[in-house]
Amino acid sequence: MSKLVSGFSKLNKEEKIAWLSSYFLKDNTNASDILRLYWNSDKKLQQLHDDFIENTVSNYYMPFGVAPNFIINGKHYTIPMAIEESSVVAAASLVAKFWSDKGGFKAEVVNTIKVGQVHFMYDGDKRDLREYFSTKKTDLISVTNDITENMRKRGGGILNIELRDKTAELENYYQLHVTFETMDSMGANFINSCLEAMAQEFKKDDIQIVMSILSNYVPECLVKAEVSCEVEKLHPTNGALFAKKMKQAVDIANVDPHRAVTHNKGVMNGIDAVVIATGNDFRAVEAGVHAYAARTGKYKSLTSCKVENGIFTFSIEIPLALGTVGGLTSTHPLSKLSLEMLHNPSAKELMQVIAVAGLAQNFAALRALTTTGIQQGHMKMHLGNILNQLEATPEEKEAVTKELSGKTVSYSGVSDVLKKIRA
Ligand code: MEV
Repeated sequence: MSKLVSGFSKLNKEEKIAWLSSYFLKDNTNASDILRLYWNSDKKLQQLHDDFIENTVSNYYMPFGVAPNFIINGKHYTIPMAIEESSVVAAASLVAKFWSDKGGFKAEVVNTIKVGQVHFMYDGDKRDLREYFSTKKTDLISVTNDITENMRKRGGGILNIELRDKTAELENYYQLHVTFETMDSMGANFINSCLEAMAQEFKKDDIQIVMSILSNYVPECLVKAEVSCEVEKLHPTNGALFAKKMKQAVDIANVDPHRAVTHNKGVMNGIDAVVIATGNDFRAVEAGVHAYAARTGKYKSLTSCKVENGIFTFSIEIPLALGTVGGLTSTHPLSKLSLEMLHNPSAKELMQVIAVAGLAQNFAALRALTTTGIQQGHMKMHLGNILNQLEATPEEKEAVTKELSGKTVSYSGVSDVLKKIRA
């Protein structure tokens, strides 16, 4: 074998690791041990992970944490989060507690419409195309009957098919723009299968089908969440100033895309962690959410803040295409457990929980940024990582933590204290 390999996927795991070790990890004598360290001793579970993707050589662990004390629409939740960033779960938990005695979070699903498109080229007469589409519309639905049967039984299916003329933007370009209701499944496979069947039915000599695929931009699969309270309840001494600075922080994100991206990254800290924990597709969610943030032509904040008649309201509105059945949600034991922890929600309920997680995270970030600064809390949580990097013993960890209590943590500061203790 050589660096350029054929038939790699057919090798067994040991052979793949041997190949990797000899060509791409040859300076690391521990490489194979590190990969093996993360294998699961439960053979069935390991096989499950091996089968998720091609060429699995190990498992990549992320911490799986829980944020308790969320009250959403009057119901108690402990939210599962899979994330590596030290302060995210702590921040979510703090904010959940903060709002738990102020009425909790309110959330509402606005709509659950998903989208798929058949993209095609046609250079004939537009009237002929429109005529062809109207004669074909019923057939386009009926060719999907077998695929949609179960979904229709559950209350979902194809909602509408539209012919869209895109020739003003790209010569000869048209679409079949199809809307779907996919109930509790994310519906990617369902949508793509329907689209491919439709494309097959729609094509003719003068129609050149380019591709058929769902869209991850789902502005009509939308959820809103908010918290609100009297301004005085926001802060022990100066609620008005707190509210004003929070609003200024959101206003800044609305006018400056550099800030908006970081602001929304904080929102996504909460969203992605729950999306991943529940076995959903975080790349789809990320792509759709950021497109929504830029829907006006300018990239803006996903959250809003207002202070009216002494009431502070902090809210979020985001598109989320999620599933609570099918895909990883039913095959990954931890995704299943996460959903169980969330009372086995419908996709709609999960949309609400995840929107709340994003809102909570943004509230936590802005609260820290506009008061103490982000580093205090962040570095406090990061202290454990620094101590691990410096290979501190449990006794040393305790002593350093005590010594640095109330002080700002930095790598060099921790290292100095540890040196002193060790001396
Ligand atoms: C860090 O992961 C997230 C923040 O940068 C978000 C923000 O700045 O709003 C703290």
